[in-house]
Amino acid sequence: MKAVIHSKYGPPEVLRLEEVEQPVPKDDEVLVKIHATTVTRTDSGLRSAELFVTRFFTGLRRPKRKILGMELAGEVEAVGATVTEFQVGDDVFGVIVSGAHAEYVCVPETAPLAHKPASMSFEEAAAVCDGASLALACLRKGDLREGRSIVVYGASGSVGTAAVQLARHFGADVTAVCNTKNLELVASLGADDVVDYTQEDFTKNGKTYDVIFDAVGKHSFRRCRRSLKPHGIYIDTDVGFLWHVPVLALLTRRIGDKKVYLGIVRYTKEDVLFLKQLIEEGKYRAVIDRTYPLEEVVAATRYVETEQKTGNVVLTVSGDRET
Ligand SMILES: NC(=O)c1ccc[n+]([C@@H]2O[C@H](COP(=O)([O-])OP(=O)(O)OC[C@H]3O[C@@H](n4cnc5c(N)ncnc54)[C@H](OP(=O)(O)O)[C@@H]3O)[C@@H](O)[C@H]2O)c1
Repeated sequence: MKAVIHSKYGPPEVLRLEEVEQPVPKDDEVLVKIHATTVTRTDSGLRSAELFVTRFFTGLRRPKRKILGMELAGEVEAVGATVTEFQVGDDVFGVIVSGAHAEYVCVPETAPLAHKPASMSFEEAAAVCDGASLALACLRKGDLREGRSIVVYGASGSVGTAAVQLARHFGADVTAVCNTKNLELVASLGADDVVDYTQEDFTKNGKTYDVIFDAVGKHSFRRCRRSLKPHGIYIDTDVGFLWHVPVLALLTRRIGDKKVYLGIVRYTKEDVLFLKQLIEEGKYRAVIDRTYPLEEVVAATRYVETEQKTGNVVLTVSGDRET
């Protein structure tokens, strides 16, 4: 099968399309023929290993897992002897540790994998689980419900577009902050209020919020503190300069009434099933910026690394079925 291989850490150009052996499912696994996958910020981080600490998990000198790719949508091609949830021919979507930048991947039945909502194309379904799982992990810290308010800063990214829709679903009053070009999109996702950060600084408008969620790791607790209500919560997706976010998270556990949390993603089947239900109820959609064929993974990755994508960047793998 074709797969994108990286045998060393480095810039996007270390990625190479190669022929490799097709995997064979174990008893508890399904073999998925991948139709679409994505390039995420995590894929980029694992490939570049610029944050050295990631190498303790991925291989100190060179990557142990040579095929990247977390999100996938495709068709079950074969099932292991003990698999009961899926059958050959089922359309599925989900998120795995790695290996989706390929024509085929084996996935344990218990992994965050579910039947694809019929209303979504493979491209759309591939762009659901990563950003939304992180957004869910973060928003759960904020106890969002009717009567609570949240600012989503960086509302146009993969995590941000998910957070706006999910916070709205939980009943919160949502203020979304983004660049001029994304105002319309973000409003269409259900934000109650939209702030253009090139025109207005939401931390200076005199309003206060229960939760401020920095979905792109570009803001700071220091600048947002006065915009939080008493007992307000600041949630970040990034460790920040010199890892100050986890340090603040520890400190604010004991000091002050305003708390800092670092959102850490945990991918679960329950979350994928929850997202599937929201999609089927018409309450969640995937935002796709650009779509590239797998062969153009380097160009797709370079674009992701501009940190300016709107929503998600999709790779199409097997172009023989459209939906
Ligand atoms: N903690 C974890 O477990 C975990 C896991 C995965 C990812 N992450 C982190 O989550 C973050 C978000 O990932 P993502 O994929 O959602 O990012 P992304 O899609 O690459 O974010 C791109 C968006 O960020 C906005 N943006 C860029 N610079 C900005 C700025 N200075 N102020 C406000 N908005 C800005 C851009 O919108 P505009 O054009 O509107 O500015 C663009 O739409 C990243 O920092 C990533 O490293 C964390």
